[in-house]
Amino acid sequence: MPNDGYLDASVHWKVRSGRISFAEPTHADVAQAILDAGLATEVGRRLGSGKEADVYLCRDGGQLIAVKVYRQYRTAHRGGPRSVKLEPMGQRASREFELLCYGWQGGAHVPKPGRRIENMFSMQYLGALDEPAPMLQHAVLSDPPGFLERTVAGIEGLAESGLVHTDLSPFNILVHDDEPWFIDLAAGLRVDRLGSPAWVRLQEAMRSLEHGVRALNRYFQRYGLEMTLEDVTARVRRQIERFRVT
Ligand SMILES: Nc1ncnc2c1ncn2[C@@H]1O[C@H](COP(=O)(O)OP(=O)(O)OP(=O)(O)O)[C@@H](O)[C@H]1O
Ligand SMILES: [Mg+2]
Repeated sequence: MPNDGYLDASVHWKVRSGRISFAEPTHADVAQAILDAGLATEVGRRLGSGKEADVYLCRDGGQLIAVKVYRQYRTAHRGGPRSVKLEPMGQRASREFELLCYGWQGGAHVPKPGRRIENMFSMQYLGALDEPAPMLQHAVLSDPPGFLERTVAGIEGLAESGLVHTDLSPFNILVHDDEPWFIDLAAGLRVDRLGSPAWVRLQEAMRSLEHGVRALNRYFQRYGLEMTLEDVTARVRRQIERFRVT
């Protein structure tokens, strides 16, 4: 069984006896969990949903906030309970939240972090009450060349705060007040303080940037614009060099 390594006996028992439900929690279940955790005072609609998490529009007192909830279970294969893969989503949430705090403190254009409880965290909501900020993919830009430059400056700003976003795409940038906001930092890399050998991390960061720039250029093509990989990597490298980790 793929989870033998991290499931203890009591969890095995719950899986076998059917006391863990692997059904997707309903909106009411998630709302209750958010309220119980004290992250919000009111839970509204789901703003978006990906492979591993959902984001909800909530209210905390008088303020609108967004709450990202990592799903607790992910079914890896079809079949009986023995093929179920349990993932430590609390860790995923904690990692993303930490990177968000890090970027925010460094002045990067990321939503202001709120609090994290287990597999959920709150952050600044981007958008208006009836109109969440659109993903770049679905946005119509009023000043495409200016926005492109602000996007490159934003990528540089993340590097300045010590981060490289490894999943850059027009789906992970929101357009709010005509500015690019970088979200979904779950797989971000810290390039200021490197755990593994520096060159491994930096190579990974640069490879993912290349991928990200390609994805963004597919979007900017519709305006006949593109950013050059050389410009982006040179600007990011300049920031990273300040940390003297290379
Ligand atoms: N702070 C925010 N304010 C407004 N809308 C947000 C905010 N954060 C996320 N969203 C909305 O929720 C959607 C999903 O968010 P995000 O990209 O962080 O998660 P995800 O792609 O579902 O995660 P994953 O696929 O990595 O599990 C976004 O595309 C966006 O529309
Ligand atoms: Mg996303």
